[in-house]
Amino acid sequence: MSETRIKLAFIGCGDIAAAHWDGIARIAKRADVTAVVDKNPTAVEAMSKLTGATIFRNIHDALEHGDFIAADIMLPHDQHEFAALACFNSGKHVLLEKPIAHTLESAQKILRASSQTDIVFMIAEQSQYWPDIIEARKLIDQGAIGEVISASGTYYDRVRRDLSGPIPWRYRLEAAGGGVTLDGGAHWIRPLRMMMGEVSEVIGISGNHIAEMEGESWSRTLLRFENNAVGVLTCHNFLCPSAPPELFRITGTKGELLITGGRDGRLSLYNSEFPRGKAVLYGAEGRRDSYGAEINEFCDLILNGGSMTATPEYSLGELCTAKALYKSIETKRWEKVW
Ligand SMILES: NC(=O)c1ccc[n+]([C@@H]2O[C@H](COP(=O)([O-])OP(=O)(O)OC[C@H]3O[C@@H](n4cnc5c(N)ncnc54)[C@H](O)[C@@H]3O)[C@@H](O)[C@H]2O)c1
Repeated sequence: MSETRIKLAFIGCGDIAAAHWDGIARIAKRADVTAVVDKNPTAVEAMSKLTGATIFRNIHDALEHGDFIAADIMLPHDQHEFAALACFNSGKHVLLEKPIAHTLESAQKILRASSQTDIVFMIAEQSQYWPDIIEARKLIDQGAIGEVISASGTYYDRVRRDLSGPIPWRYRLEAAGGGVTLDGGAHWIRPLRMMMGEVSEVIGISGNHIAEMEGESWSRTLLRFENNAVGVLTCHNFLCPSAPPELFRITGTKGELLITGGRDGRLSLYNSEFPRGKAVLYGAEGRRDSYGAEINEFCDLILNGGSMTATPEYSLGELCTAKALYKSIETKRWEKVW
């Protein structure tokens, strides 16, 4: 490919589009946002003002008249399939926000359709670029904590929206496909898979303490990994103030890794060499940069080819894990993830 820049359409101009734009403006500078698409006039006009891109109110108009070769799809989960398929059919490269879809059937349709094209198709899961997680995996591989036995991960999210009006799409099961575990919890499932290896089965419980949410507003999941190590994942939405969580704790036969912090992932190592703990990464800015990193990788794949950090098939893992949890809540048994 002789081009050195990528003309990109933002399809969906809501909350996450602002983070993607920040990533492009600061990091993924080879992307030019030339089209912005949203059915909400306020959202699309605001994004056009930021990016200078042409406004479209629906995907089909954008695909017919827009000037772009790639699409960044940031829509409600039940809209992923129709948008991705429309883009594939028009030969556009696709970056699709997580989770791949709201149901496993819809995800399989997207995967099947993408395999019949030669475009670049990537799922946006920014946690795979978090420096604290990458560094933790390196330390595990180097044997810094011995053989890994168990892990815990805690995803907390404060509900920032006013819930007195119409229920937002992400709190409607039909649109979102699940609750907090499938949605924000995905960003905790991926790091657990990166650090611990593949999840084989899960069992868990959940509850709905936020009346406006149809899906679960909290869950506790026990995960068994393929290497027989075990993890506990806690996902929680809050309407009220909450105490800061420990983000991840990885326990091995010779030590532990601890990740704390808010948006900035602080990684510490505890072992016989550092019995009081060594600050390995402290307040790394990399978590904010991770949105730019994923768009950068997407541009690179289009311009130069090569292999992606995580294939769409691998990215199915977060959805499969959440759906296996939901099944286990019904059956009260361990359920296979794959
Ligand atoms: N990676 C992350 O950290 C992260 C964070 C938040 C959301 N997300 C993901 O991003 C996606 C979007 O989430 P969000 O929080 O930005 O949602 P949002 O509700 O803030 O934005 C979605 C936008 O899509 C528009 N829209 C809906 N249906 C449309 C259609 N058919 N045609 C055109 N526009 C349409 C809405 O008007 C809205 O502006 C979801 O997949 C979500 O899981 C990822």
